[in-house]
Amino acid sequence: MKGFETYQEKKIQSMQGGGTARMEAQHRKGKLSARERLDVLLDPGSFEEMGGLVTHRCRDFGLENEVYLGDGVVTGLGTVNGQRIAVFSQDFTVLGGSLSETHAEKIIKLMDLALRIGVPVVGLNDSGGARIQEGVTSLAGYADIFYRNVKASGLVPQLSVIMGPCAGGAVYSPAITDWIFMVEQTSYMFVTGPNVVKTVTHEEVSSEELGGATTHATRSGIAHFTYPNEVECLQAVRRLLSYLPPNCAVRPLRGSGWPQPTASDRRPALDRIVPESSNSPYDMQEVISALVDEGSWMEVQPEYGGNILVGFARMGDQTIGVVANQPMILAGVLDNNASRKAARFVRFCDAFQIPLLVLVDVPGFLPGTEQEWNGIITNGAKLLYAFSEATVPRVSLITRKAYGGAYDVMNSKHIGADINLAWPSAEIAVMGPKGAAEIIFKSEIASSKNPEETLNQKVNEYTEKFANPYIAASRGFVDDVILPSESRMRILGAFGALQTKAHQPLPKKHGNIPL
Ligand code: HXC
Repeated sequence: MKGFETYQEKKIQSMQGGGTARMEAQHRKGKLSARERLDVLLDPGSFEEMGGLVTHRCRDFGLENEVYLGDGVVTGLGTVNGQRIAVFSQDFTVLGGSLSETHAEKIIKLMDLALRIGVPVVGLNDSGGARIQEGVTSLAGYADIFYRNVKASGLVPQLSVIMGPCAGGAVYSPAITDWIFMVEQTSYMFVTGPNVVKTVTHEEVSSEELGGATTHATRSGIAHFTYPNEVECLQAVRRLLSYLPPNCAVRPLRGSGWPQPTASDRRPALDRIVPESSNSPYDMQEVISALVDEGSWMEVQPEYGGNILVGFARMGDQTIGVVANQPMILAGVLDNNASRKAARFVRFCDAFQIPLLVLVDVPGFLPGTEQEWNGIITNGAKLLYAFSEATVPRVSLITRKAYGGAYDVMNSKHIGADINLAWPSAEIAVMGPKGAAEIIFKSEIASSKNPEETLNQKVNEYTEKFANPYIAASRGFVDDVILPSESRMRILGAFGALQTKAHQPLPKKHGNIPL
């Protein structure tokens, strides 16, 4: 065949990355190569490469002699669970996976194609940052990518998987994308590395401590998912994609849509989950597990802002997003971290037509100077804004406390929830009975012969009157009070009814979310 030899030579060359020695060094660090990662991520044989023959144009600092086919990033289309995605995988063995003008052009071309055909973009990041020899052209390349990340936001899901260095301005592409995955010990993200930190602030800190997976999973909240190795991480990417639609115009409906609930959806164990004492904790994870399809709960940011739980699950085989207060941690209070965490999750679900189930057991917002000085006013408002703007089907279930402003914020009827249910154990009030009695009966308690007894009596009075779901139900703020064991049936029924929900946005450019 004419031209076959050159064809074969080029194809082999483009598979070799930066050569055997660098590939071995990559493996010694416990890292896979760019192509090996694609093998784990994609359905077998589904990868269609684009740009494997691209080379850089730099003729400075000796780079004219270091030309590698593909220029340090493997790009193309493939499928995950049969669903098409666009994917780029940076190759650290080629000039440290650094981003040149042409490397950037390949990613940009891929993103533009992903937007035209409406498929998720997955980026596997392993790069020393801007290609130093190229100067401003590589900076331009980053900005071109950031710009497209913003344009693509809300149109197609964007996933960033950090599998090596990701430093300097390079972090801002993952930061704009929807989901960040990290691998423990071998990946890190920071704006300035340990050396610069030492010079500027005199702090001594390792890369891992400054911006490793654990740091971002527990302290900054920047990493949504972390895993001990690359294979588990890539398998989790496959799992997350299984919940998501390819783009914002497609509903994530599977099969013939929401099923009719049956008697098999009864969950008697839920009748025993809320303790007698209103101040005793119980594990909201157990409630979620009982409500959703078995094994379908994929928690997001499990190690950050644990007083609120967010994540994806399936009910009747359909994707839902779950937001739930966790009484086991800080009594399920809303604080800065929990508010921001939940708000961003709600925004994602709303952008991609994923119905929201909200489980409420919230004693209010966390008091204190730390919270106030770090902006609980604006951060709480983010969650309020996110729920209020969400037009996807929204179902709330109040399991116990729904106090004060947090009652309003947690997907109440007043801010547009579609179906609001409550268990008989629900307490819907301005504040907890003790705090309420201490304020409204202050002088009566103080002047009484036995203040403690009077307080208890007033607490009981307040509890009887307000710490139940019936006043809210009588006003229609709660649509029904249901037995816990019936919850799965009722929620399935609610989402089934809401699957035809239409939304008509107001004619405005956009609101001004309290960012
Ligand atoms: C060109 C680079 C490179 C870069 C690494 N290499 N980073 N080449 N541009 N940015 C090359 C190395 O020369 C080396 O080539 C190979 O990649 C592997 O690098 P090593 O240093 O041997 O690897 P390792 O010890 O694992 O260290 C990895 C590293 C280190 C920590 C990433 O390479 C490093 O600090 N690189 C520079 C990081 C940096 O300052 N980047 C610019 C940031 S500013 P050979 O031929 O030996 O294999 C930035 C701005 C973005 O990114 C702004 C956007 C707005």
